[in-house]
Amino acid sequence: PRVAILISGRGSNMGALLEAAERPAYPATIALVLSNKAEAAGLQRAAAAGIPTAVVSSKGRTRPEFEAEVNAALAQHRIEIVALAGFMRVLTEEFVGHWQGRMLNIHPSLLPSFPGLDTHARALEAGVRLHGCTVHLVTPGVDEGPIVAQAAVPVLEGDTEASLGDRVLAQEHRLYPAALAWLAAGKIRLERGRAVVAANL
Ligand code: GRF
Repeated sequence: PRVAILISGRGSNMGALLEAAERPAYPATIALVLSNKAEAAGLQRAAAAGIPTAVVSSKGRTRPEFEAEVNAALAQHRIEIVALAGFMRVLTEEFVGHWQGRMLNIHPSLLPSFPGLDTHARALEAGVRLHGCTVHLVTPGVDEGPIVAQAAVPVLEGDTEASLGDRVLAQEHRLYPAALAWLAAGKIRLERGRAVVAANL
């Protein structure tokens, strides 16, 4: 299937997905990188890798207007799966419904702990001993969709937001390509609202 990656910034997860998808056996093609910010660093990296890019600005537009334009770009590139990777816009129920079961997000915490922003600072504040990242299917509630994959890291004495964030990010770069491959290969099904990954991987 043809995949679009939606970004707003740095794009390191996007980079990890592009790298994984270069392998011939990878079951998905990255066919578009779309950003809502023209200055997103990830756009240059995608362009340098020869991937089509698009910018759809969300500034001064209503959410439905913005999303209509995003969907037009996705349709134009015949996109079948959407991977959110540091995409900082909340999506409407209509948009999410349209991509239901075909849209993934990566979140830098072990959900359902620490949905939302500043997850590493909040994990340190809470004193958790394990932290990590989650890939989930996107549903209308932010960071609430069925969990597809998680990776945990230890919280170490003396950790800062930056050191903990780096440790989590290294796992994100490993986890997201694997989870996207499962979805692209049709290995994820929903059972009573939970994601089940086929065992024969
Ligand atoms: C990542 O930590 C991701 O989990 C979160 O936003 C950050 C994006 O980083 N949703 P990058 O743009 O992929 O480098």
